[in-house]
Amino acid sequence: MSNSLLDIKGLKTYFYTDDGVIPAVDGVDIKINKGETVGIVGESGCGKSVTSLTAMQLTPGKVVEGSITFDGKDILSLSDKELREIRGNEMAMIFQEPMTSLNPLFTIGNQISEAIRIHLKYDKKKAKERAIAMLRKVEIPRPEEVVDDYPHQLSGGMRQRAMIAMAMACNPKLLIADEPTTALDVTIQAQILDLMRDLKETSNTAIMMITHDLGVVAEMCDRVIVMYAGKVVEQADVKTLFKDPKHPYTQGLLKSVPSIESMEKRLYSIKGNVPIPGSLKGGCPFAPRCDFAMDICREKEPILKDVKEEHLVSCFLYELDKEEAINHVTATR
Ligand SMILES: Nc1ncnc2c1ncn2[C@@H]1O[C@H](COP(=O)(O)OP(=O)(O)O)[C@@H](O)[C@H]1O
Ligand SMILES: [Mg+2]
Repeated sequence: MSNSLLDIKGLKTYFYTDDGVIPAVDGVDIKINKGETVGIVGESGCGKSVTSLTAMQLTPGKVVEGSITFDGKDILSLSDKELREIRGNEMAMIFQEPMTSLNPLFTIGNQISEAIRIHLKYDKKKAKERAIAMLRKVEIPRPEEVVDDYPHQLSGGMRQRAMIAMAMACNPKLLIADEPTTALDVTIQAQILDLMRDLKETSNTAIMMITHDLGVVAEMCDRVIVMYAGKVVEQADVKTLFKDPKHPYTQGLLKSVPSIESMEKRLYSIKGNVPIPGSLKGGCPFAPRCDFAMDICREKEPILKDVKEEHLVSCFLYELDKEEAINHVTATR
């Protein structure tokens, strides 16, 4: 039996706008195994959200190339009805802003119960009981009362918990969490992450954790995928990525993480900005911002290759022989 749950291959999702074509996702491979938590990181605008929305078939963008297999099913060939059966059931999503998934016109209980009734075929009474149990599981106080509250009656942190309860109510195989704690203050953020970790351990749900916060990745993820300008630029297990980042972009992201020491110094930030998709003319998309860029980086695009087992990077530095690389890096420092 295959261990693979989500397998995205060579995905390109483009937007066709009046101002031209926006290649938001431009050749991405992402694999997530059953029960695994994979972090997708990168600055804003790198294509993280569009990648995940494409996996759920919820983006207005057009898939121009590639394939998406979820639990053996070819997502791109499913009907709307088949997709609705998967969404919220086998594949659920939580967002930064809970009101994106909560409907202000219905009570919390109604919304959670509805998913349970549709997907698990529970009757009304049993569905409400399960909704209350889910609210209790996400540690919402007085769940018997909150179940009859409307979203606006809850605080931001409680709404986030209610959204997680709804997403987890049908025991999804995959939870896509897109910046789930970004809008919350640090204490509540830590509580929500604890909660997600517990849920993951008890239900063996795989998580695609989209975040620009490397602290969240360090705490939650088994493996990390770094995206830049619609492409994967590095991929490794979490320990390797933090200990031995290879891509200059990943190194820059890691240097931008605040730590006790760096609080005193000015926080490092990668020079320049994420390019507007479609504005690049060949070469490595990171070359204009890279301290180590060579002539070849401006001419040819690197491809993702193994530098070690299970550690992939797309960067020409790792195609130089060792001595050349050391000389080059020393000269540019
Ligand atoms: N509906 C849309 N129409 C046009 N462009 C879009 C749309 N959604 C996203 N984009 C563009 O696609 C790129 C990737 O966006 P996104 O995946 O949201 O980035 P991230 O989640 O990494 O911050 C951005 O340049 C963004 O402006
Ligand atoms: Mg996003």
